[in-house]
Parts: sequence; C-alpha cells; structure tokens
Amino acid sequence: MSWVSVLRERESLFRRAPSAHNTQPWTIDYRADEIVIGADPARSLPDSDPTGRDLALGLGAFTETCLIVAADAGLSVGCDLSDPRRIRLVPAARPYETIFHRADVDARRVARGSYEEGLLDLVILAALEPGITHVRSRALAGDLAVADRWMFGTPPVARELRDWLRLDPRDPRYHRDGLTDRALGLGRTEARVLSGALHAYPLTRRLGLPHLLAASGRNLLRYDGSVLVLTGSERDLRQSGRRLLRTWLLLGRFGLAVHPLSQLLDCPATAARLADRVGATPLAVFRVGHPVHEPDRSARLPASAT
Ligand SMILES: Cc1cc2nc3c(=O)[nH]c(=O)nc-3n(C[C@H](O)[C@H](O)[C@H](O)COP(=O)(O)O)c2cc1C
Repeated sequence: MSWVSVLRERESLFRRAPSAHNTQPWTIDYRADEIVIGADPARSLPDSDPTGRDLALGLGAFTETCLIVAADAGLSVGCDLSDPRRIRLVPAARPYETIFHRADVDARRVARGSYEEGLLDLVILAALEPGITHVRSRALAGDLAVADRWMFGTPPVARELRDWLRLDPRDPRYHRDGLTDRALGLGRTEARVLSGALHAYPLTRRLGLPHLLAASGRNLLRYDGSVLVLTGSERDLRQSGRRLLRTWLLLGRFGLAVHPLSQLLDCPATAARLADRVGATPLAVFRVGHPVHEPDRSARLPASAT
C-alpha cells in the first residue's frame, strides 16, 4: 500500500486538527505520491477573519497534525510550504521528528468552561517554544469585555458567528462542524436564548444584545490564571500555526487545556494594546489551565470516501 493510502486511512484522526469556528477549512487532494492541502473558500470566515490570519494558522495546525499522524504510522513524510496557495505533503528521507503521537492528536480539545486558579508552572513556561509570552489573565479581563462588545456589536462578524453556531441537536450539521451548545458550555435554556437573540439580530442589537452577550463572558478572565500569546511574523502564518498546534499539544501533555480568545486580536483597539503589552505582533491568544469540567469532543466532517 502506498504511503498516501496509509495516511488516507487515518483521515478521521488528522481531521481532529483545530480551526476557528470549527469550519475545517482544508481541502485534501490525494494524488499518487503527494497530498495537496488547500483552503475551501466556502469554509473561510471573510467577515470575522478578513486578513486570513486564522485560516492560515488553521492550515498550519492541520499540516502539523498530518505530519504527526504520518510519523506515528512510521511514514517518512515532510511538507512543502513554498506555494502560498497550497501545502504539499511529500515523501521525505525519514519520518518527521516529533515527540507527539496519535493519542495527543486524539485527546486535544479546546475547553471553554472554568479553569482552576493558579498560574502556569515556570517549568512548563520554560518548555514552550520561543515567541510565546505569558500574561496574567486578570490583566486582560477589561479588554476581553471591550473585544466581546465589539464582536457582538459588529453585524457581519456576529452574523458569521451565528452561521457557525449549532445550538440545536436536531440541526443536521450538529455532528459535522461549527460550534455546538455543548462545546460552548451552554445549558439548553442559555442556548435557546442565544439562538433567539442572534436570529432576531438587527433588533436585538439595538436592544443592547452586544452588552448582554459580552456580560456573559465578563468573568472569563477574572481569576488568577494564565494567558499565552503566540507572537511572530504575519508573513509566516502557516509555520506559526504549526507552532501553535505543537504548543497546544505540549500543554495537553501537562494536563492543561486551552481556550483561544481571538476577539482580542480581531478588535482593533484591544489588538493594539496587546501588541504594546507583549512588544511583538500577537498572532494567537489563549487562556491555559486545568479545566474544572472535562470538555466535550467537538464535531468533525466525515473522512472522504476512498
Ligand atoms: C486559529 C484559531 C483561532 C481560534 N479562535 C477561537 C476563539 O476565538 N474562540 C474560541 O472559543 N475558540 C477558538 N478556536 C478554537 C476552535 O473553535 C476549535 O478548535 C474548534 O471548535 C474545534 O474544537 P476542538 O479544538 O476542541 O477540537 C480557534 C482555533 C484556531 C485554530
């Protein structure tokens, strides 16, 4: 069996890669001796991610996940990122060198509920790759409220979020993609209220919906916890996505979960303040900690038929 077929058999595993709003924006083209990864425009987020930052980070994270799964299967596979429009998985002289295995890929998940109090251990901070800055969660609590109000108060951004929410288990897309009520940690009533409010959006916006929704996340950073900021060049986003995935897997090895807060980067005012604070270009920001409750497993599209 060719390496392409062996890796293809593991598609449902590397599909566990993370993506903003769980859009799973990658296309996978299996060829005789290479796998070409592209971006599906129908699964991009033109309003919430106009610069394509999260799309490129997601494609990088997906590539890193593929390489880990390939190495775990004993395959010698590398990647070629020279073309900005596509990524090629190609034969290599030896398996990709990584400390991670399929179990890390399978166990990884975002946790959006409460975390236990406490800052990250210095040993863990020292083990992280360069370009990751630690910030105390409380220091960003005020800006998160500003960013949330901006997000819910910017109609195209709120509408795009609504399109990727899966708040009703009867939704045929519930087990395929997007953000479910369970992934967001919402009870049935909260999910119904959010769903109703977002569907009547133009009206509820005028009635103060942005303030109401932002208020629900008010306490998210009001505890003694850690936030990490991945910094780097905006020209190298796919490589940074690979670094982001490795960082999340490493934290997972220590039993730690992450919760990205991209609105802090999307809202121009809070993005500028975060850049000043860390003295570099922030590409991703996420809180880190021991979740109080085990998070749900997110949905994925099925693997393509062989
Ligand atoms: C680049 C990027 C940005 C993300 N931004 C956010 C975010 O702002 N808020 C959030 O709750 N999750 C965010 N996520 C997490 C995704 O929503 C999550 O990966 C997806 O729903 C799949 O869930 P899982 O990672 O638990 O498998 C982001 C993920 C990526 C890769």
